[in-house]
Amino acid sequence: MQLDLIAGTRPNFVKIAAIIHAMENYSQEITYRFIHTGQHYDDSLSGNFFKDLELPAPHFNLGVGSGSQAEQTAAIMLAYEKFLLKEKPNLCLVVGDVTSSMACAITAKKMGIKIAHVEAGLRSYDWSMPEEVNRVLIDSIADYFFTTTPQASENLIKSGKAEEQVFFVGNTMIDTLLRFKPKFRKPLVWDRLKLQEKKYLVLTLHRPANVDETKKLEQTLKEILRHSKGIPVIFPVHPRTRKTIETLELPGDRLYLIDALGYLEFNYLVQHAKAVLTDSGGITEETTVLGIPCLTLRDNTERPETVSLGTNEIVGTNRQQLRSALEKLLSGDWKRGCIPELWDGKAGERIVDILMNKQLPL
Ligand code: UD1
Repeated sequence: MQLDLIAGTRPNFVKIAAIIHAMENYSQEITYRFIHTGQHYDDSLSGNFFKDLELPAPHFNLGVGSGSQAEQTAAIMLAYEKFLLKEKPNLCLVVGDVTSSMACAITAKKMGIKIAHVEAGLRSYDWSMPEEVNRVLIDSIADYFFTTTPQASENLIKSGKAEEQVFFVGNTMIDTLLRFKPKFRKPLVWDRLKLQEKKYLVLTLHRPANVDETKKLEQTLKEILRHSKGIPVIFPVHPRTRKTIETLELPGDRLYLIDALGYLEFNYLVQHAKAVLTDSGGITEETTVLGIPCLTLRDNTERPETVSLGTNEIVGTNRQQLRSALEKLLSGDWKRGCIPELWDGKAGERIVDILMNKQLPL
């Protein structure tokens, strides 16, 4: 079987790593082309992840770089189509909800190639997020669906997918977390700031709704500092956020802006933090498994199990909500949570088993 594995952004590399590592024992039966779209291109979001996650170099890099949503989508589709015209795989496997996954899925589908979607069926029902548009588009045309939760499978069945197309396999992002946990490594900032176990907060923000408007970002940062009782806040800054932050007058001296970290260093920081404040989706899953309190600075989530079972709470970004969530956290009144079903480090193996057992008619 010949597979195309698509990845283009930081969270894609984390998810695809689990599948590539699970395929290591089957190189006779499954061959793959690992395709990097180039959506994320600098070392902080791409190169470092390859080293940390022991990923092989991609076979091809479509080199699309940055641009508006439409520019990126168009550039990825043009480049991948050209590539497919030379040789078609039996299956194109895309992960998650980023522009790269959506653009490659549409291109492959129109060329008659079957699509498998890993992390299918998640829904925030928030159409202001480009990721929700991507999720729904991918799921509307994919042929096979690998899900992280029973609820995600249910969402797909309700939308008309047949049970034989949907496979609840667990969470490849958690496979990677558990595989590399023994290798988490202290970032330089630990000693430089003399950080102490459970005595600092980690903050990440990159969603357009939170960071593209200077005023909104400034307000959020001020509220966090006002209600975090003197605790240092470590903020590894995504390149997207860097653009806005450079125009800000930053409040206080307890907010430490650092460059985006590699995977092993970032998760070391998370593992030892008092809590994480984030607008990411993947981080809410990782904190659930690591048992670290997580405050989601969005009004919704496509990953409800991180709230119903895990350590995550939807806090939003308004003043009152942020204040009461931080008070609750700092008074020690945070739920411990439990780990969702099948988030056990074996999702990649389950996916490869399904491919090997020829459960997908190709
Ligand atoms: C993308 C994903 C988001 C994911 C996030 C993780 C989409 C729609 N969004 O958001 O779901 O959670 O990645 O990081 O696909 N840039 C750099 N260096 C890079 C990459 C990007 O400077 O290596 C800059 C670009 O100039 C661009 C901005 O960051 O303007 C945003 O990049 P983009 O790829 O559009 O999406 P993200 O915001 O990173």
